[in-house]
Amino acid sequence: MRWGILATGNIAGKFASTILAMENEGETLVAVGSRRLQSAETFAQKYHISKAYGSYEELAQDPDVEAVYVATPNSMHYENCMLCLSHGKHVLCEKPFTINVRQAQELYDMASQKGLFLMEALWTWFLPLYGKLRDLLKEGTLGEIRQITCQYGFVAAGARRERKFDSSLGGGALLDIGIYNLAFLYLLKQEMPKTFTSQVRMSEYGTDAYSKLLFDYTDGSVAESVQTIGEELERNATVIGTKGTVFLKDFQHAQSMTVRLENQEETVLEYPEDINGFEYQIREVTRCVRAKKTASDCYTPEDSMAIGKLLYDIRKSWGMHFTGEED
Ligand SMILES: NC(=O)c1ccc[n+]([C@@H]2O[C@H](COP(=O)([O-])OP(=O)(O)OC[C@H]3O[C@@H](n4cnc5c(N)ncnc54)[C@H](OP(=O)(O)O)[C@@H]3O)[C@@H](O)[C@H]2O)c1
Repeated sequence: MRWGILATGNIAGKFASTILAMENEGETLVAVGSRRLQSAETFAQKYHISKAYGSYEELAQDPDVEAVYVATPNSMHYENCMLCLSHGKHVLCEKPFTINVRQAQELYDMASQKGLFLMEALWTWFLPLYGKLRDLLKEGTLGEIRQITCQYGFVAAGARRERKFDSSLGGGALLDIGIYNLAFLYLLKQEMPKTFTSQVRMSEYGTDAYSKLLFDYTDGSVAESVQTIGEELERNATVIGTKGTVFLKDFQHAQSMTVRLENQEETVLEYPEDINGFEYQIREVTRCVRAKKTASDCYTPEDSMAIGKLLYDIRKSWGMHFTGEED
């Protein structure tokens, strides 16, 4: 795939270095667009990209670009995806896809009408270890799942703090990292919770710094998700079934899991990433585009919108309204 990168921030750099490591698979970087030409040029030099543009529009208009990776702050994804789709580009857009489901639906509809591929870059969904864990649950190895817990937190500091909490950019811990927890739960449960309750601590920016969410499912099982960008919290997840448990250290980057089954020795299953974990979602985009699909059948628009709706419902239950957000 011939990729264009829209924005030159932190995650755009990670994506660019992943594509460089995938050149032997036919992935290439052809252009980058930034709000400022100088940022685009610096980024282009660093990642050996031949074309640098000082606007997102010019990037979207480049006929050499087949697919655009959108890496702007959350509240901008909708308009950036719109721009790229309207210029006939396939799009991989960073998580969280949009800040409400109406925007997401419009984008998926537009991609489908125009015959273009569109996917939210929820890279963890494609981790090989998650696939294996799902298989274990489906096969009943752990018995009936009674409880899942996951937690993830770090301290957003310096300039990063401003951006991550900024209400006008769709900030806060839930959308920034809570989405990984909710996606993990949804992937394993294959359904959204029946009900939820929560505790939240808001930041001085009017967005959430910490929350603990408790979910109830129709089969009587429960889940807990803790997310914070105000304090260090170990990343881990535990799945508890009637016949055993699975523990994932660093679950968002999970490359191994510890399986404890009743009356058996503990086993550690290893699934090392090929590059850095981003490669699986990139392969999915290329596979789907080459197969002329407009959406992934592994991480579908319905999956993306189900997670988006839960994020929205939780946020609204806190009375949290982004600056500039329409009702
Ligand atoms: N997949 C992951 O592991 C992962 C990790 C972190 C973040 N993310 C997601 O990726 C997106 C970007 O996060 P990031 O950490 O890369 O952010 P970042 O370092 O702040 O970069 C965001 C970029 O967006 C552009 N931008 C456009 N309008 C902006 C505005 N008003 N304020 C600030 N930047 C603006 C800027 O690029 P130009 O100046 O070049 O236009 C900026 O460099 C977010 O949606 C985030 O949730 C994903």
